[in-house]
Amino acid sequence: MSEEPSEQTNIPPNPELISRRQFFNRLILALLAVGGVLMGIPFIGFLFEPLIRKFTPVWRPVGAVDKFPIGSTTDVSFVDANPLSWSGVTANSAAWLRRDSETQFTAFSVNCTHLGCPVRWVAGSQLFMCPCHGGVYNKNGEVVAGPPPLPLPRYPVRVNNGQVEIQASPVPITAPFSLP
Ligand code: FES
Repeated sequence: MSEEPSEQTNIPPNPELISRRQFFNRLILALLAVGGVLMGIPFIGFLFEPLIRKFTPVWRPVGAVDKFPIGSTTDVSFVDANPLSWSGVTANSAAWLRRDSETQFTAFSVNCTHLGCPVRWVAGSQLFMCPCHGGVYNKNGEVVAGPPPLPLPRYPVRVNNGQVEIQASPVPITAPFSLP
């Protein structure tokens, strides 16, 4: 019995073929890297935009003075100070507006100083309650219970031509520094 000689497969690699394969591998890696950088630009912009961007406070009307009875606390909405052109409805902000006297108003941010959840005003107990982690503020926005580390921020308010105006500006949220 004679054995057939096995076919020799040790063909030396074609240097041109290897270099073409390497070229395409490198091209694909380069395209992936460029794509990754392009996709990362909006994210990087989102992260660092608040550090770079200058916010100019703006007075926003929230309603006629007569609309707010003395002693009442009402939720009002207004457009952020410097909304981005693509913000849409997220450019809207809100505040709790209390009328203290004929001419005096106090405006509290609706955002809890813990993690930013919107607080609601409970007139019966004269408290602002945060639904997220049980934060409680008294009628002056001071913390009386729960994890919020700071009182509710206040907006400057003025009366101008019969309109109540709130000076819109970015609201500071303490998280993540307040996290355990
Ligand atoms: S966000 Fe208000 S208590 Fe946590």
